[in-house]
Amino acid sequence: MTTAANAVGKGPEAEDEAPVAAARPRSAGLWSRRDFFGRLSWGGFSIVSLISLLAGMRSAFPRVLFTPPQSFKAGLPTDFTVGEVSEKFKREHRVWIIRNPEAIYALFAKCTHLGCTPRWLKTEEKFKCPCHGSGFYMSGINFEGPAPRPLERYRVALAEDGQLVVDMSVKYLFEKGDWAKPGAYLRV
Ligand code: FES
Repeated sequence: MTTAANAVGKGPEAEDEAPVAAARPRSAGLWSRRDFFGRLSWGGFSIVSLISLLAGMRSAFPRVLFTPPQSFKAGLPTDFTVGEVSEKFKREHRVWIIRNPEAIYALFAKCTHLGCTPRWLKTEEKFKCPCHGSGFYMSGINFEGPAPRPLERYRVALAEDGQLVVDMSVKYLFEKGDWAKPGAYLRV
């Protein structure tokens, strides 16, 4: 029987290939529908597995709230010069340590207006806040600017090894009469 292939001169082999090509799925070379849904379900399974794995890892490493130490040793009382403000611990702990002829005390370097960090101006012998100009004497008492009250003091004590310990978990407020309490200063 004469076919179109024969008609264009392709020979009988071309005629044999025709049924094979017809039997091949239309989507050969692309994913079949079954492949597609199979891969989709495996992909979904993998994502779920990955999420479970991450959740498991997270519970294995619970969140830890880091709380900085509340006290520190500042050295021997004799390390501090009478009449001077030590700024040695200002950067790390936001604390000034002051020694006068009678005692040592620790001031919290936070302005009582809006919380900026004042600067110690040695030549003027005062703490000056750069934000709105509040000024404080060496004692911590406010005398100019909008700060409504004195700086706060931290508890100071002596450790067994003779070092000064500043405890930042205990504050002493002038306006509450706390500065007269033991702990607000250390007699030297
Ligand atoms: S924050 Fe110090 S004067 Fe305003």
